[in-house]
Amino acid sequence: MPGILVWACGRFTTEEKAELARGSEVYLTHCVSCHGTEGDGLQGAYPTLLRPEIAKANTDRAIHLIRVGSGMEGGMKPIALTDKELVEVVNYIQNTWGNESPFITETTVQELANK
Ligand code: HEC
Repeated sequence: MPGILVWACGRFTTEEKAELARGSEVYLTHCVSCHGTEGDGLQGAYPTLLRPEIAKANTDRAIHLIRVGSGMEGGMKPIALTDKELVEVVNYIQNTWGNESPFITETTVQELANK
């Protein structure tokens, strides 16, 4: 499974590893068809998730795209996830394939919804 080597190397707590394992399930169900098993997308169609800016400043954008979509033709459509699943998958994409970012919680999502 993608990312397992990284998780095994001790950067993450047991709880974080469990969170990433849940996030990978959400990813494999809802995201892999476009963004690929290695998160590298499909050139010309679906963007790679392997960019530093994804893991750093773009949490709000990621959450927005998943909930609301981009409104672009061929772009991301809203994906129906619970807040918990949303948090899990964002933590997963931001901490897999060499990406690194602080873990978010459901509070992050709720704060964004209230903006
Ligand atoms: C139908 C194909 C498709 C699916 C399914 C999909 N995406 Fe996307 N994703 C895109 C496209 C296309 C873009 C580029 C923005 C746009 O045009 O909507 C994008 C953009 C993104 C971005 C922003 C990348 C950037 O450049 O900032 C993130 C993060 C992301 N997707 C995460 C996800 C996650 C997580 C899931 C699963 C919950 C998911 N996507 C499911 C097609 C998809």
